[in-house]
Amino acid sequence: MIGRMRSGAIPVGIRIPSIRQLAKQEKVSISTVMAAYSILEEQGWVEVRPKSGYYVRRRAREPLAVPEASEVHSPPVIATTSQLVMAVQRDVLNPQTISFSRATPALDFPIVRHVQQTYTRLSRTRRHLGLGNSSAEGLYGLRQQIVRHAVYAGVSASPDNVVTTVGTMNAIGLCVRALTKPGDVVAVESPCYYGILQLIEANDLKAIEIPAHPETGMSLEALKLAMEQWPLKAVLTVSSFSNPLGCSIPEERKKGLVALLEQYQIPLIEDDVYGDLYFGKRRTCAVKAFDGQGLVFLCSSLSKTIDPQLRVGWIIAGRSYEEILHRKFVNMSSTPILPELVCADILGQGVYERHLRQAREAYWQRYLRLVDLVSEYFPHVTKISRPQGGIVAWLELPRGVDTTELYHYCRERDVLIAPGEMFSFNKQYRHCFRINYAPRWTPERENAIQRLGRWVTERVTGLV
Ligand SMILES: Cc1ncc(COP(=O)(O)O)c(C=O)c1O
Repeated sequence: MIGRMRSGAIPVGIRIPSIRQLAKQEKVSISTVMAAYSILEEQGWVEVRPKSGYYVRRRAREPLAVPEASEVHSPPVIATTSQLVMAVQRDVLNPQTISFSRATPALDFPIVRHVQQTYTRLSRTRRHLGLGNSSAEGLYGLRQQIVRHAVYAGVSASPDNVVTTVGTMNAIGLCVRALTKPGDVVAVESPCYYGILQLIEANDLKAIEIPAHPETGMSLEALKLAMEQWPLKAVLTVSSFSNPLGCSIPEERKKGLVALLEQYQIPLIEDDVYGDLYFGKRRTCAVKAFDGQGLVFLCSSLSKTIDPQLRVGWIIAGRSYEEILHRKFVNMSSTPILPELVCADILGQGVYERHLRQAREAYWQRYLRLVDLVSEYFPHVTKISRPQGGIVAWLELPRGVDTTELYHYCRERDVLIAPGEMFSFNKQYRHCFRINYAPRWTPERENAIQRLGRWVTERVTGLV
């Protein structure tokens, strides 16, 4: 069947026989066909559409490989990539550019309009000005909705454990400041979301980079070694659908992670900002779900599921609730109430769940399209991650290709990527880069990927 799909005899988009039909036709057992179809699916030849069947997905090439797990076990380091990071942040302000560089969600879902209408309605009908100072904890109604929603991630908490924040980065920053002091050592996954690395740098901390497997996330074995060797003050991880790999720590390993935290009494700052954007059948539990001792600080926001402009986030805190609250108070006194009223209203309605279902399906399809485009236009040595959720993919090129140079070259031609250098203090990902696949594919975006593929090919060919 692969041969016929490759030659185009079975075209892309065609439904192939159901498991039952093929078993009957070929006179083999159902389980044999099921095993064969799951290989086809794994290799990217077919996709399953719920309640519909198996469809041909790609024909041109063998599937691209998945990036390698990093092997580096770093000593604690302080380093700086801040100029590059700030340049990448600023680039997207140029309306000429086609951006794949920042992890922004698609902003063309109906929920965005709903947010606008809710703002208008609530700013007219609810008092949010003239109330004097609000409490440092944040709006009670929002904290109620946050704990109600956290149940899907297996987390049971009370609104009294929650502090609202101005997005996830603010939440992580408050936890970092409550749990560490300058010079302390913390562990992060590698590759690591550059915002977290920048936060570590800005707080004068040292980071140990723990290799992350492209499918199962942070290595617990390496983390244990680091815990034995260094006086770690905290661990930071994007536990479900990491940025940039899109991998998720399986639930069994999340339990194992909590056991390690308990053994060494080290807190975990868990960034769960992508947790609701899963491609599987159900939401995976957060690490916080297995935390019996208050060691896990779950940080999240609506920045990836709705819009980063909302700037509404939260911490479901562990032990140091009062310390975090005090940090928030000295930083900003309290968070603005109107965005919190709007988010409480939206989380309290079915509209948010409906939106998530729509976003998850759209992001999955857009990722599949990215894989098709990369298969078609990039050299076949390119490796691409298989995210289990979220909105970003990680591409790995042969060592020797410099993606920081590639970034500058693309930028001059109005195409933006996030170079791998930003995702580590150890410069170990200079042959990798990250792509955001969330926005709808347009002819312009597809053409930009085609051009990017040409520039990558020129560099890969130049290596030999
Ligand atoms: C893993 C991760 N955490 C946090 C953030 C920032 O979230 P927020 O906009 O809510 O501060 C991002 C944005 O890219 C991210 O990828």
